[in-house]
Amino acid sequence: MAARAHLENLPSVLEQALEDAGARLEDVGLLAATAGPGLIGALLVGLSAGKALAWARGIPLVGVNHLEGHLFSAFLRPKGETPLPIPSRFHGLVVSGGHAELVRVETERMEIIPIARTRDDAPGEAFDKIARRAGLGYPGGPVIDRIATRGRGDRFPFPVGRVDGSRDFSFSGLKTAMLRELQRRGIDGSPLDAETLDGELVDLLASFQRAIVTALVSRVNEVHATERIQALALAGGVAANTELRATLAAWGHEHGVPVHLPERSYTTDNAAMIAWAGLLRHRHGAGTPVEAVQARSRWPLGS
Ligand code: KG4
Ligand code: ZN
Repeated sequence: MAARAHLENLPSVLEQALEDAGARLEDVGLLAATAGPGLIGALLVGLSAGKALAWARGIPLVGVNHLEGHLFSAFLRPKGETPLPIPSRFHGLVVSGGHAELVRVETERMEIIPIARTRDDAPGEAFDKIARRAGLGYPGGPVIDRIATRGRGDRFPFPVGRVDGSRDFSFSGLKTAMLRELQRRGIDGSPLDAETLDGELVDLLASFQRAIVTALVSRVNEVHATERIQALALAGGVAANTELRATLAAWGHEHGVPVHLPERSYTTDNAAMIAWAGLLRHRHGAGTPVEAVQARSRWPLGS
């Protein structure tokens, strides 16, 4: 279904993007398309279109890692403005519906060194599953974010999952604990109205969000203690989260670490971040012949 939706929508999206940019296809000198990770059918649609255009127009194509697109999105400015200079070394925290990755980036060499990732659920996935079970619809992150601003995040202290002897994240224990709390209160997924919701459930959701934010920020703090973070970039769909943004900004302020928060419009999946990551890779000499660019369903950051 995803692949078919890509196929149906791609031509009109491309046309609209060119129109919005006031450009013609002839003005385009470099093409970037997501090459992975993800659903192979959907990837093939976009990448094949990119290949065809590059081939027909005789211009280069860069196959971009979706997560790398997120990683650099914290430096993008609003439409029409130049991106911020990228620090020569920075740490990146990419948190989305499919990933939680903490990496170090050596910008000059465009080298990405993995530090920690989730062993089970991604934070966005946890938000989505809890919201669904609470009858709050999809996606879960934005609605829980809004409800949590009215709640007490310290009312129900949830344990923050740890993987023994590792810096990796784990969110499935938290998700299960939260599901149990919902079940105990007879909440079964019947639709609830987020705007009028009140009482204990508001505090419960705020506490659930607090646990995710605490897990992420405390890991950043641990890494800072061992390898001094010079600058931190937050990215991915969950980077839109109000409490995560505020807590990380406060952490950076306290420790004298510049924290780059993405514009909200660049937090969820978007084409601008893929184009920019493609440009960065191209400038760094990623010159692969068009026919050799391959879609990859699995593609961990840094490989
Ligand atoms: O990066 P993204 O658009 O897609 C993936 O590559 O996964 O991220 C989507 C995820 C969803 O799970 C959604 O619930 C979450 O980002 N999300 C948020 C917020 N806005 C979106 N999570 C927490 N707080 C938000 N404000
Ligand atoms: Zn994404």
